[in-house]
Order: sequence, then structure tokens, then C-alpha cells
Amino acid sequence: MCQDIPDVYVFGYGSLIWRPGFPYSRRFNGFVKGFKRRFWQQSRDHRGTPKQPGRVVTIVPTSEFNTLQPTKEPHDDDDDVVWGTVYCIKSDEAAQCLECLDVRERGGYQRQIVPVYVEGNILACMAVLYVGSVSRSINKEFIGPESIETTAQIIATTSGNSGPNRDYLNNLANSLRNMSLHDPYVFELERLVREISAPADMVCFRTIISTL
Ligand code: BEZ
Repeated sequence: MCQDIPDVYVFGYGSLIWRPGFPYSRRFNGFVKGFKRRFWQQSRDHRGTPKQPGRVVTIVPTSEFNTLQPTKEPHDDDDDVVWGTVYCIKSDEAAQCLECLDVRERGGYQRQIVPVYVEGNILACMAVLYVGSVSRSINKEFIGPESIETTAQIIATTSGNSGPNRDYLNNLANSLRNMSLHDPYVFELERLVREISAPADMVCFRTIISTL
């Protein structure tokens, strides 16, 4: 802690889980209540192009989610919690870190301060969370409810400055699995993308084998 200024906590639910990109003094798993994680945000740079935008995650307040998508899908978990990673940033580094994150996550996300809980439903801290607005006049990249099949098709076929959209999804799914965390929507999306990509992967594999 720096004099009277407290350390700052940041909650990551997307790429911040596997690539924070800032110094932190410690990290732990936690969850926020009253949100759903969805790949309902377009990416025209990192995971797609302006012509073929990819999909990245955003976190949607459940009240807004229920209005946007009143009918539940099988992968719509009843739990309105989103698990992720909490980073503790030293007070003297916090301002610079948050400025960098504001730039990195500039595609329509806004900072909110939310309570974060840990296993056993224990309140751990208040943390900064980047929430994408569901209003397209504020957040031009918000696409809103999209069938999981459509999202899977897009993720399987798009790529941007940071690489294939598929890698983003796989990084998230693998991180959640490594943390022993459950997210039926993310795991179902991963399964669908794998199914769509399997024939293309086989062609690629046969080409590599034939050149050996
Ligand atoms: C995150 O990983 O927490 C995150 C995702 C999208 C925008 C900002 C942050």
C-alpha cells in the first residue's frame, strides 16, 4: 500500500485471465454476481477484420440479458455468476495500469466497481470490472443475442491482428478448465467450434503428413 491509497483489484473474465499484461502483486479466482459471460462483442481488430469481425467476450448484467434473450437455451446456466481472475495491483502502479487497460479495452467497455466473491460465497473485495454497454449507441461493437451456432461459425472462421479467433476461445476455455471452473456456454461453444473446424484441421494434417 502507498501511504493512504489502497491497492486496486481488477476482475478479469476474458483475455485478462490468461494475459493480464500488467504487474500485479497477487491473483486469485473469484466470481461476480448478476452477470452472464457471452461472446456478444465484435472484434474488428484483434480477432477479426472490419470485413469479417470476430467475437470476443463481454459481460452482460442478468437483468439486461433476460430482456434481450427472454427464452433460455440449454447452455444458459441458471447461476448468474461469472468466474474469473482477480488481480491485486499495488497502489503506486494502479493509475498507470488502469490507463493502459482503458486503452487496450477501448472497444465500448466501461469501468464499474463490483463486489467479488470467492469459494464459499465470501465477499473478497471490490474490484474494477470492464462491462460492455448493451446500448449500440454507446457500444458500437455490441451485437446482442446471437445463436451459439452462429457465434461458433464466426469464431471458427475469423482471424485478426492477435491471431485466430479460435485461439481466444480456446485460451478462455483452457484457463477455466485449469482453474476447475464451470461455464456451460463457453464449453459448448468450444465443442461446436471444434466440430466445425475438424474437417479443415484434417486437411491441414494430411497436407503436413504428405510433405514429410
Ligand atoms: C476481461 O478480460 O476482463 C475483459 C474483457 C473484455 C474487456 C475488458 C476486460
